[in-house]
Amino acid sequence: MKKNMANLAAIATILSGVARAGGPGGKGGGNGRWHSHVKNASKLSCEAATFADMLPGSASIEKTALVESGSEYGEGAADIGFPTNPTNLPGLCAITVNVTSSETSSYRFGLFLPTDSWNSRFLTVGNSGFAGGINWLDMGSGVRYGFASMSTDTGHNSTAGDLTWAVNSPGQRTDFGWRAMHGSVMLAKEMVELYYGTCAEYAYYAGCSTGGRQGLKEAEMFPDDFDGVLAGAPAWWTSHLQTWTTKLGAYNLPAGAENHIPTELFDVIEAEAIKQCDSLDGLQDGIISSPELCDFDTSALLCGSGDINTSSCLTEAQVETANNVYADYYPEGEFGFPGLSISSEWEWHVLLGGDTPSSLGDGYTQYMVLNDPSWNWTQYNDSILWIADEMDPGNMTADKYDLSEFKATGGKALLYHGMSDGYISTGSSTYFYEQASAATEGLSDFLKLFLVPGMGHCASTATDAPWYFAGAGQTGRLGTDVFSTPGFEADPMYDALMALVEWVENGSEPELIATTWEESMDPSSGVLRQRPLCAYPQKAIYDGKGDVDSVDSWSCQE
Ligand SMILES: *[C@@H]1O[C@H](CO)[C@@H](O)[C@H](O)[C@H]1NC(C)=O
Ligand SMILES: *[C@@H]1O[C@H](CO)[C@@H](O)[C@H](O)[C@H]1NC(C)=O
Ligand SMILES: *[C@@H]1O[C@H](CO)[C@@H](O)[C@H](O)[C@H]1NC(C)=O
Ligand SMILES: *[C@@H]1O[C@H](CO)[C@@H](O)[C@H](O)[C@H]1NC(C)=O
Ligand SMILES: *[C@@H]1O[C@H](CO)[C@@H](O)[C@H](O)[C@H]1NC(C)=O
Ligand SMILES: *[C@@H]1O[C@H](CO)[C@@H](O)[C@H](O)[C@H]1NC(C)=O
Ligand SMILES: *[C@@H]1O[C@H](CO)[C@@H](O)[C@H](O)[C@H]1NC(C)=O
Ligand SMILES: *[C@@H]1O[C@H](CO)[C@@H](O)[C@H](O)[C@H]1NC(C)=O
Repeated sequence: MKKNMANLAAIATILSGVARAGGPGGKGGGNGRWHSHVKNASKLSCEAATFADMLPGSASIEKTALVESGSEYGEGAADIGFPTNPTNLPGLCAITVNVTSSETSSYRFGLFLPTDSWNSRFLTVGNSGFAGGINWLDMGSGVRYGFASMSTDTGHNSTAGDLTWAVNSPGQRTDFGWRAMHGSVMLAKEMVELYYGTCAEYAYYAGCSTGGRQGLKEAEMFPDDFDGVLAGAPAWWTSHLQTWTTKLGAYNLPAGAENHIPTELFDVIEAEAIKQCDSLDGLQDGIISSPELCDFDTSALLCGSGDINTSSCLTEAQVETANNVYADYYPEGEFGFPGLSISSEWEWHVLLGGDTPSSLGDGYTQYMVLNDPSWNWTQYNDSILWIADEMDPGNMTADKYDLSEFKATGGKALLYHGMSDGYISTGSSTYFYEQASAATEGLSDFLKLFLVPGMGHCASTATDAPWYFAGAGQTGRLGTDVFSTPGFEADPMYDALMALVEWVENGSEPELIATTWEESMDPSSGVLRQRPLCAYPQKAIYDGKGDVDSVDSWSCQE
């Protein structure tokens, strides 16, 4: 890895290769900047015997399958964490490997090896929540670019919100924390080398949420694993994030009490936030792009006297709850976790809408920190965050802020976070950036953070904000066979993964444009608006006169 591409003579664009290999329609890669060595088909057959000799004793091939161009592949509903199969794949060799990681634990990984359109690169995709399963859908996204693509199940079998597997299971926790990822990367790289007769020239990573955490963890702990890391909305501060999740949910409980804000009122709060905060960024467009400029006065939501319509106003106790949700959390007087951002209200139903806090929080304290299935959120106290911080089960937390080793290997990291994220506070990414910046010389030379106004958790928007840039997992939100950014395929300006590749291999710093459509999840409805994404602390500023929906009317400024 990390070689110079000495002779960058364009042999063929990988994209024309992909288009021929059964990729979805669209421009199909008329972008001449995305040059690469396209390797010919492997001479080896796609069967267990091919790999048997190279595997260590702890690993075995569970399955191989030669997948014809245009087919679907995955484990479907049996993969309870990632049940959606990618469709219309390019021709590839699919392999599932099982690795024993300790006397009491094992993990699996899936590997897609394009049979006739390999772009000489390796891509690992991440997971989400506490799900245990191979993310075949995002691997499918990777092979459409020509990457040999891998995903690990992280060592257990569960849905995203189920943590029961972790009780009394240090081996599974460690696999989930980092061991399954690193082990799978090492082995998959060797399999790639064997299959193609040459090692991958570059290795990349793309993941969001837990996937973002996994990418940062790798950069911190195994700086040689990847040349480029794309990390969205990283759940990097696990011990703080998960305990805060319980604290946050508890603010709005119990469900019958005076302080409880019913989910129907979240929209009312959002509307008031937009009314007070939207225009402060210089443009009234329903998108709050500079929440830091807004001192949101939630008392404006208070019900007046007289005829009160309780579906359009809040009681004092409810206003207090809303204030708590936005407030940074200081357990025992010390900073613990930032509050949710103004404009995250549309996603509040996830962590604030139930009769109990989210199992992502409660399950973490129950099954990982206290190891006590009988514990429940009513027993939460502020010292639990610090107990978790001290213990950090499975060494999941990615809080080694000194990234100079990753820098020294030539690594590049592209982070992003939606500014309307209701799952993981946007402020946790800016906090990471500030901490890493203080601990690492020249951070912005190799790590950039892009905040995305109006985007929710990893994808999507409630306010017609440009949210799509082919970020980790975003293609899968549009469909099972989507490639890059529909309508702008293969252009690194519109594609965060390709922008990362260009940055790593060509030194060109990422410049990104986000898109949304008339129907925000349906590219066929036509482009509604596009805006530049800017590297923090810069942000996109409107020129005050041009078409607000055109990228030309905006520039990145501090
Ligand atoms: C590298 O970046 C430069 C400057 O943006 C561009 O002109 C050139 O085409 C790029 N080369 C490749 C191979 O992408
Ligand atoms: C690919 O295969 C063709 C036809 O067999 C051959 O002419 C060409 O040299 C090969 N290219 C590489 C890069 O191996
Ligand atoms: C995971 O659990 C599901 C549901 O119990 C089951 O159908 C599936 O076979 C399991 N997968 C593995 C790899 O054990
Ligand atoms: C993986 O291998 C281990 C050790 O042989 C075994 O216990 C485990 O059941 C296997 N996993 C699956 C999903 O088959
Ligand atoms: C109460 O407010 C809701 C939400 O704004 C509105 O839909 C409804 O018509 C109002 N009801 C009355 C009686 O005004
Ligand atoms: C939660 O724990 C408390 C204290 O032990 C107990 O009284 C309560 O019944 C429990 N609630 C649930 C839903 O288990
Ligand atoms: C908080 O909860 C933990 C775990 O149950 C317990 O060990 C600790 O004593 C509690 N602290 C306080 C101050 O109640
Ligand atoms: C835990 O992870 C950090 C990186 O986040 C790493 O520096 C440290 O060595 C790990 N500790 C152990 C005990 O593996």
